[in-house]
Amino acid sequence: MTSIIKIEVIYDGNSYFLQTTKHAYANLIVLLLNELTDEYFDDCKGMGKCGTCLIEILEGNDDLKGQDRNEETTLSKMNINQPNIKLACQLLVDESLKGIKIRII
Ligand code: FES
Repeated sequence: MTSIIKIEVIYDGNSYFLQTTKHAYANLIVLLLNELTDEYFDDCKGMGKCGTCLIEILEGNDDLKGQDRNEETTLSKMNINQPNIKLACQLLVDESLKGIKIRII
């Protein structure tokens, strides 16, 4: 049985509810670009190097609040050290995103 992943996204002051399944998208930025807006930026195409895909995790999985892959280097260059600020391109679309609420920065 395919597990449904529901995400609440705050974007431009509005709330949106997105629904997907595990690995339906390569990562969270691809999901947001496909399901919400093409105005959202991904200058490095998901390499984790440009920092244009910043999101804030408002509610949900505390395990997401660490920094993985290229996040630590990119966020430190931007002087960002809040654990709930993440690069959407570095988050895989899997069960770890279930029920989270995020804000696009
Ligand atoms: S798309 Fe460049 S850091 Fe995420």
